[in-house]
Amino acid sequence: MDRDAVAALADETLDWRFKAVPADAWGRTVRGWLATGPTLDSLGTPLLTLDAAALDHNLRTMAAWCREADVLLAPHGKTTMAPALWQTQLAAGAHAITLANLPQLRVARAFGVQRLLLANTLLDPAGLAWLAAELDRHPDFAFTSWVDSADSVRQMDAALRAAGAQRPVEVLVELGGPGGRTGARGIPAALDVAAAVHAAPTLRLAGVGGYEGALAHDASDRALAAVRDYLCDLAELHRRLAPDYPTPTPVVTAGGSAYFDTVAEELTPLAEEFPGTKVVVRAGAYHAHDDGFYRGISPLARTTGATPLRSAMHGWARVVSHPEPQLALLDAGKRDLPFDEGLPEPQLVRGAGELTGAEVTALNDQHTFLRGAGESAPIGAVVRLGLSHPCTAFDKWTLIPVVDHADAQHPRVVDLVRTYF
Ligand SMILES: Cc1ncc(COP(=O)(O)O)c(C=O)c1O
Repeated sequence: MDRDAVAALADETLDWRFKAVPADAWGRTVRGWLATGPTLDSLGTPLLTLDAAALDHNLRTMAAWCREADVLLAPHGKTTMAPALWQTQLAAGAHAITLANLPQLRVARAFGVQRLLLANTLLDPAGLAWLAAELDRHPDFAFTSWVDSADSVRQMDAALRAAGAQRPVEVLVELGGPGGRTGARGIPAALDVAAAVHAAPTLRLAGVGGYEGALAHDASDRALAAVRDYLCDLAELHRRLAPDYPTPTPVVTAGGSAYFDTVAEELTPLAEEFPGTKVVVRAGAYHAHDDGFYRGISPLARTTGATPLRSAMHGWARVVSHPEPQLALLDAGKRDLPFDEGLPEPQLVRGAGELTGAEVTALNDQHTFLRGAGESAPIGAVVRLGLSHPCTAFDKWTLIPVVDHADAQHPRVVDLVRTYF
């Protein structure tokens, strides 16, 4: 990764473009403002913050888990779209960064990420021409994408030929599952895709992959069985393709933040059966983690004796109206906080302590409906909200303050994380 490009983010001038930044910081650089020693009290609402201690804890915990489980980690970068956070993931031992589409790839290349996994199919001809040029210009750039049909293989091949691509593009055959998202349905269909890749001069078959998270959404026995069945099929696909891979180090990849334990259990035996096989998990949400969906489903919360992850993200919103005794309206809404995997959870009132018995019942574009707080959340009080789903939290903020400890009485702002969505 280009450390200078990441370091240069601290030279960005703060102004009205960044909604988290108070007006008295305008005109200063990120570096200059942080040097003034700001605290959370100097920031306004609505606000999203990250917690440095929790981010670090999650980074170390996941890196240790992957080492122990014998899997490589290619964190999904679309969760944060924050090159500075990707840099910490790579420094903690991540093997590559995973991304979902062409604009995300371009961000990663602008910051010099050398090993990228596109967990998707790239068919846009102009995008493939850009990719081919990028690969040819940078021999140390390693790129792998997915394909799930012979049609997409043909279209990729035609576009890469038209672009005069010199280096073959590595692709994994994507296996899907019934009711899931993309991915060839069934092993025979996936074998046909592999045959098409072998016949395409601009592509090179580098392994198999897929996303079990598209097939299950909870940790019930039924959901876990569906995930396991799917992973057995993925392993079997690898077995069938292994004799013909044109590489000694093929990749088998699955695993978001919900089922990476089952992924490791089902896929790591492949590395013994076929030495050289790299098993890669792609968890992205683990880094910020949450107080909602992932708190409930994370394998590190479900496994006895495991070190759980900690939520590193919080919302902060001010009571701006108390029109009914048990209804308070806060100044954060859908534009500021995630709401697609559960509503925010009221946790505390700043300076007053824990907030119990209250509930967020709805979010409008710019308002939170807090019920049941009564006099514990008077007009002007600032409420800390636990959040669910990092992927739809980061995309609402271009610059996110990082505090040292969100639980401290006066958390210090120690960084500002720039995102590029
Ligand atoms: C294909 C793919 N891989 C990996 C991930 C990462 O999963 P998580 O967000 O649970 O960390 C996602 C998330 O949507 C995904 O779509």
